[in-house]
Amino acid sequence: VDVEMLDGRAVCPVDHHSAEFAQHHREILDDLRESAPLVWSPLYGGFWIATRFDIVRRLAMDSAGLTVAPGPHRTGGIQIPAPPGLKTRPLFVPGEADGQEHDDYRMALNPHFSKQRVAELTPMIERHVSGTIDAILDSRRFDVVNDLVGPILAGVACEHLGLEVENPAGFFQAMFEMVSYTPTESSGGDKFDQVARAFSQEWQAVVDLVADRRSNPREDVVSHLVRWTTPAFTDEQIQMMTLNVILGASDTTKSLVSQAVLYLDQDREVRDRLRRQPDLIRKSVEEFLRLFVVAMGPCRTATQDVEIAGVTIKQGERLMLSFPAANHDPAKYPDPDEFSLERGAGQHLAMGVGTHFCLGAWLAKSISTITLRELLDRVPDYVVDADGIRGAHDKNSLNHFESMPAAVTPDDLLASAP
Ligand code: HEM
Repeated sequence: VDVEMLDGRAVCPVDHHSAEFAQHHREILDDLRESAPLVWSPLYGGFWIATRFDIVRRLAMDSAGLTVAPGPHRTGGIQIPAPPGLKTRPLFVPGEADGQEHDDYRMALNPHFSKQRVAELTPMIERHVSGTIDAILDSRRFDVVNDLVGPILAGVACEHLGLEVENPAGFFQAMFEMVSYTPTESSGGDKFDQVARAFSQEWQAVVDLVADRRSNPREDVVSHLVRWTTPAFTDEQIQMMTLNVILGASDTTKSLVSQAVLYLDQDREVRDRLRRQPDLIRKSVEEFLRLFVVAMGPCRTATQDVEIAGVTIKQGERLMLSFPAANHDPAKYPDPDEFSLERGAGQHLAMGVGTHFCLGAWLAKSISTITLRELLDRVPDYVVDADGIRGAHDKNSLNHFESMPAAVTPDDLLASAP
């Protein structure tokens, strides 16, 4: 891409919603990182893009100068431009809140997602993984996204929250679509009405859950939030926290594990090594987080002028923090496109940093580690049908996968080929 200097700004019309960006984001982001510390795209009302590791990290830590909040007219927030659903849907918190309000939500949620609490959840996670793999072994052909990772995540998240829904896949899909829906040329105007209708139908389960736990508390996360007193939350606030956990525990983790399963299909040396030494899987999950693109780049709005690397982000201007670009900054990670268990990827920004650091980091890493360990152990000869993979056309905020066909053995793949 071409970056030119205009009025003291490095400018390039980067379109993070385009098919070109979805396919070539790595090269585009590499070019931007090499060109300037911050690049201004004049599209979508104009926004800055930060790509260098140290700069992205410093900006992500500045939650006072750069807010995630959508603002009173809901025109800001963590996506550029603000998607249509943001006007009417409940906000998800703590991810769309700042200041004291954000910290109140985190204080109430943190104990249920801590390292220690997630360790206690291990048998529950193992039960969901094991049942899902039993089903895969029975059916021989499976979809990595929809038959392996999807049911495990939905099962774990629903059980932890206390949510009982008839069709978890449909429920998670409705939540995700409402938050991520961005109009494209092909989708027309009608699709959003459908998305909004599906969301409000499924959302009732969250409203009912919170109301039910007010009178019948149990031991799940929602019951604990209902009992919390410092401060006490309204039903609406608990619904908004539940929404954030649902969203976090779904498509991000799905994307990470699906990409890991695909990577291990292609790199047989690493696959054999991890099978022989399962203790290395936890460490490889950390490197997969650095290497793969999952969360594309949450956005911010400047609440005041912010000076960085000789550039002024003016009050009211928008900014995208490109976590994937930062994780591939060769100044931080030499040979960034290589998988390496030796590099020590622990400081990567795949789960953010600072105040908004991912609440579900321990949970996501545990689910990913257990799923990969059990898959390599019980389905050691699995193969992915790489030609059948379907991914999102618009990767402005998430590297989302719709489908990744696979089989238990190469013979199973051939046996059912058309
Ligand atoms: C591989 C899986 C995951 C990835 C890559 C990921 C990534 C992220 C990132 C980048 C952020 C920071 C966003 C920002 O700075 O604006 C974040 C925040 C968050 N994540 Fe995750 N996440 C994952 C899994 C999960 C899970 C399993 C949960 C379930 C609890 C979760 C819940 C949240 C919440 C609630 C926040 C908002 C935190 C705050 O604003 O204080 N995430 N995640």
